Amino acid sequence: MLETFKLRKFTPDDLQSVMQINRVCLPENYTDYFFMDLYERFPETFIVAEENGKIAGYIMCRVEVGLSNHGLGGLIRKGHVVSIAVMPQSRRKGVAQALINAALEGMRHYKAKLCYLEVRVTNDVGIALYKKLGFEVTRTLDGYYSDGENAYVMTKKL
Ligand SMILES: CC(C)(COP(=O)(O)OP(=O)(O)OC[C@H]1O[C@@H](n2cnc3c(N)ncnc32)[C@H](O)[C@@H]1OP(=O)(O)O)[C@@H](O)C(=O)NCCC(=O)NCCS
Repeated sequence: MLETFKLRKFTPDDLQSVMQINRVCLPENYTDYFFMDLYERFPETFIVAEENGKIAGYIMCRVEVGLSNHGLGGLIRKGHVVSIAVMPQSRRKGVAQALINAALEGMRHYKAKLCYLEVRVTNDVGIALYKKLGFEVTRTLDGYYSDGENAYVMTKKL
């Protein structure tokens, strides 16, 4: 498929566009400080997709240290997808898949050994996307979201 979009790293000039996409696409919204903090700490895993000169999607992540729980032994670095969204008119063109693959590369740069994320148990599209990329459901978090919905934790080894 001919790609109509291109990926690049987030820059501070993108902040308002990314916050707008976040508000349109997801109920979990954050302050500008929160976005900028993740950019400053983990620039390699904050990626945007541009289509026709406008930002159509983003992914932002953080890298944490924690117990492996996946047979990798001891404390490891984990990449955590904090937020990903693609504008409705740009969906189903592989944008999210490309954003995740670019973020996984960034996580490898930070020496993360696995990647995980939370997804609403009713988000069939999100779950299908992550399964396609090799993520597996590893846990359920009861009442994880502020409206009480449960989350699946989905994980992929890097
Ligand atoms: C989830 C989301 C990011 C997917 O973005 P996208 O750019 O349309 O996804 P892609 O085109 O890369 O899709 C990759 C794969 O995901 C799955 N997928 C994506 N959209 C789907 C849909 N509407 N129905 C079923 N499967 C779907 C498919 O397996 C697809 O591969 P395919 O097109 O070869 O079948 C987008 O729908 C979105 O922003 N949703 C609202 C926010 C959200 O739910 N974020 C995730 C929260 S954890």
